[in-house]
Amino acid sequence: MREKRVILAFGTRPEAIKMAPVHLAFERQGAVVPVVLLTGQHREQLEQALSLFGIEADRNLEVMTDRQALPDLAARILPLAAGALKDLRADYVLVHGDTLTTFVVAWAAFLEGIPVGHVEAGLRSHRLSEPFPEEANRRLTDVLTDLDFPPTEGARQNLIAEGKNPDRLVVTGQTAVDAVRFAAGRGRLPLDGGGRKIVTVTLHRRENWPRLAALAESIRALAAEFPDHLFVYPVHLNPVVREAVVPVLDGLENVVLLDPLEYGAMAALLGASRLIVTDSGGLQEEGAALGVPVAVIRNVTERPEGLLTGILRLIGTDPESVRSGLSLLLRRGILPGQVPPETNPYGDGRAAERIAQAVAWRLGLGTRPADWVFAAGEAGLS
Ligand code: UD1
Ligand code: UDP
Repeated sequence: MREKRVILAFGTRPEAIKMAPVHLAFERQGAVVPVVLLTGQHREQLEQALSLFGIEADRNLEVMTDRQALPDLAARILPLAAGALKDLRADYVLVHGDTLTTFVVAWAAFLEGIPVGHVEAGLRSHRLSEPFPEEANRRLTDVLTDLDFPPTEGARQNLIAEGKNPDRLVVTGQTAVDAVRFAAGRGRLPLDGGGRKIVTVTLHRRENWPRLAALAESIRALAAEFPDHLFVYPVHLNPVVREAVVPVLDGLENVVLLDPLEYGAMAALLGASRLIVTDSGGLQEEGAALGVPVAVIRNVTERPEGLLTGILRLIGTDPESVRSGLSLLLRRGILPGQVPPETNPYGDGRAAERIAQAVAWRLGLGTRPADWVFAAGEAGLS
C-alpha cells in the first residue's frame, strides 16, 4: 500500500511558526509522510520563520508581489494550489489559522476532493470587520473542513454553535505554545538592553493601518515618559507599515527599530520583556506561554481566555487611550511571572502531537487522540 501523504500548506510568518511543530510531530510519529507546500504569500519573513526549525519546502508557489492586493493574491493562489495538491499526491491537507492562504488553499483542496484539517480553528471575534479579513477567512475555512483543531474549549464551542460535528473537533491546545517552547534557549537576544526594562512592540494589522502613525506617536510619548524602559519594535516588512512607523519612531534614544527577527531571537526578546504591546494574534499566545503580560492593541480579541487569567489586557485602538492605558500598565500593571506559564489557558506544549495523531486516525492509521482539557482550577478560574 502507498504511504499516506499529508500536505502542510501555509504562506506567512505566523502560519510557518505554528505549523513547524506539527511537521516535527509527524516526523517523530512516522505513520504519515509530511509534505510542505508554501504559497509564498510572504517571502523573507517566511524563510526566516522556517530557519530555526530546519524545515525545507517541497514546493513553493512564490506568489508574493510588492504591496499585493488581496483579490489578486487570492486569484493567484487558487489554481496554483489546486495543481500542486494534485501533483504532490495529497491524501490529506492541513491549513493553519486565518490568512488568505488558509482559506484559499482549503478551498482548492475542497474543489479537488481532498480532505482538509484546520489547525487553530474556531477562534471568533464575532465581528467581521476585526480582525479584517481574518475573521472571515476563519469562518469560510471551517465550512470546508473534515477535521477542526480548536486550541481551546471555547473555540470548540464556537464551532459547535455553527453546527460542526463534535466527533470531528479535537481540542489540541495552541501549537504556538509548542513553538515558543521549542525556540526557548535556541536564539540570542538581538540587543543589549543595558539594564533597562524591555517593552516589545509589534503593530501591523490592516484594520489599524489608518491610525498606525498615530499609534506610533503614542509609543513615542511613552518612550519619553519612561526613559528607564527600552522600546524594541521589529517592524513588519509591509511598506505600508514601515512608511507609517519609521518616520515617527526612528532616532529616539530609547526606541530601537529592528528588521523582522528570526524566530529564535524573537522568542529570546519576548522572554526578556517587561511587557509586550501588540496587535498580533500569535504574540498573545506566546506572552501567555512565557508568563509575560500582553497589552492587546485591538477592540476585541478572538483569544479571550488570557483576559480571564489577566495575562492579556485589551487596550483598544484609540491612540490617546492607548497611551494612557499603557502608561498605567507600566506603572501599576501585572509583572512578568505574576500569571505563571503553568496556568496558560492556550496550551500545554503537546498540541502538535495531538494533531498528528488525529490525522493518522482519519487516514485509518491509529486511534482518535483525547481532547486537551485545561485545568481551569490551577489558573484560579474555576
Ligand atoms: C498577512 C495576513 C495576516 C497575518 C500577517 C502576518 C492576509 C490577508 N493577511 O498580512 O493575516 O497576520 O500576514 O504577518 O492573509 N512583505 C514583504 N516580505 C515578506 C512579507 C511581506 O516584502 O516577507 C510585504 C510585501 O510588499 C507584501 C506586503 O508586505 O505585498 C503585504 O503582505 P500580505 O501577506 O498581503 O499582508 P500582511 O499584512 O503581511
Ligand atoms: N515574529 C518573529 N519575528 C518578528 C516578529 C514576529 O518571529 O520580528 C513572530 C512572533 O513571535 C509570532 C509571529 O511572528 O510567532 C507573529 O506573526 P505576525 O505578527 O506577523 O502575525 P499574526 O500573529 O498577527 O497573525
